[in-house]
Amino acid sequence: MSNLHELLTLETLPIDETYVDKLKALLKSGIPATYTIEQAAAFEAGKEDEKAPASDTTPLHVLVRSLPDQMTSAETDVVLEMMDILFEYGAGWNFLDYENKSPGDILCERGLSNGNALYERVVDAGVSAELLLRKLNDDIEFLEDDEVEESEAEAEAGAEEESKQQIVDVPQVEATTGDTAEDQDVYLQADLEYTSNALVTKSNKDGVMMDWETGIMQLARDTMFKYASSGEAVVLNIGFGMGIIDTFIQERNPTKHYICEAHPDVLKHMREQGWYEKPNVVILEGRWQETLSALLDKGDVFFDAIYYDTFSEHYSDMLELYDTVVGLIKPEGVFSFFNGLGADRQVCYDVYKRVVEVDVQNYGMRCDYTTVPLPVNPNWEEVRRSYFACDRYYHPEIRFV
Ligand SMILES: C[S@@+](CC[C@H](N)C(=O)[O-])C[C@H]1O[C@@H](n2cnc3c(N)ncnc32)[C@H](O)[C@@H]1O
Repeated sequence: MSNLHELLTLETLPIDETYVDKLKALLKSGIPATYTIEQAAAFEAGKEDEKAPASDTTPLHVLVRSLPDQMTSAETDVVLEMMDILFEYGAGWNFLDYENKSPGDILCERGLSNGNALYERVVDAGVSAELLLRKLNDDIEFLEDDEVEESEAEAEAGAEEESKQQIVDVPQVEATTGDTAEDQDVYLQADLEYTSNALVTKSNKDGVMMDWETGIMQLARDTMFKYASSGEAVVLNIGFGMGIIDTFIQERNPTKHYICEAHPDVLKHMREQGWYEKPNVVILEGRWQETLSALLDKGDVFFDAIYYDTFSEHYSDMLELYDTVVGLIKPEGVFSFFNGLGADRQVCYDVYKRVVEVDVQNYGMRCDYTTVPLPVNPNWEEVRRSYFACDRYYHPEIRFV
């Protein structure tokens, strides 16, 4: 273990300013804030040239694992200062250690989550890192061709490092390129299957929609009709899936109920189920990226409520959707979406909760969340992998300020 790691085990109590001074001195001497226990062990064994180990137990992990169960507020302030210094020197908020845990996961596990100053500091760091990384990625687009090549080479060199740090483009579930959960073209060509309680991809059993979300869909429908009278509302749902939210919407008898759906198997199912015959339903066949642009161009429909819940899309798609939503929603309208952003880890879920707040503010909108405990425990056995690992759901309600 290096001097830095040793310091962060907080052996000597109370935790006072001497820790801050020592930490600064070590980092100033050139020890990276990302120096891992695994790297230190390899160095001690004379094997530092070998392939990097898979886990990254960083100084921040050591610090949060070493926190005493009881701390005075003065000690908490010192730890916060130490965290600030580590972040200032480049500590990553979401590196995963030998137990596949990020510093935020460890704090959660220790009961120090929402509202706890140390946890909130990790979330703050996550939000800043995500926004900054996105900005850096965006800026690359404006470079000249030769500069782009240079930047790409630099980016490639740093890609391995970055991939451990960022969730810039959060998919609904973690997935690899070319699979149905990650690649929309692959998904739209895959065969789907309706089971008794889910919609899945036939070949690899990705859960496109599952009925454990029914309570969430009802909550979303209630939000859609919160500001408009049922008989007069014109609403839009993007992504039909199992039709759970659309069935709830029909209970309120809206004037017009638009449904945008891209997958041919889902459209076939909708036809079989009589959705095309419903007098107040308008079906927009195709990807929202195309069908909603056409609506925008026509300029004769504006919605009281828009709900978004698709599959195999990323947060970058949502960023694009915000542009469309502000053009299609009435000034007093409401926008909501199935919030699975980063939901495979509580800390990522908390970071993305805040990222959305920041992003919609840029459109003069405000996002308020209702936190609800998960209505039922999802049964993940019938699908390939779980896409929601948190014990609570943050239901978003977004409106113009
Ligand atoms: C999670 S399901 C929606 C579930 C729905 N909220 C319900 O209550 O059953 C996602 C749906 O979005 C559709 N979809 C995926 N990408 C889309 C896109 N770009 N445009 C329109 N629909 C899309 C999928 O085919 C799928 O039917």
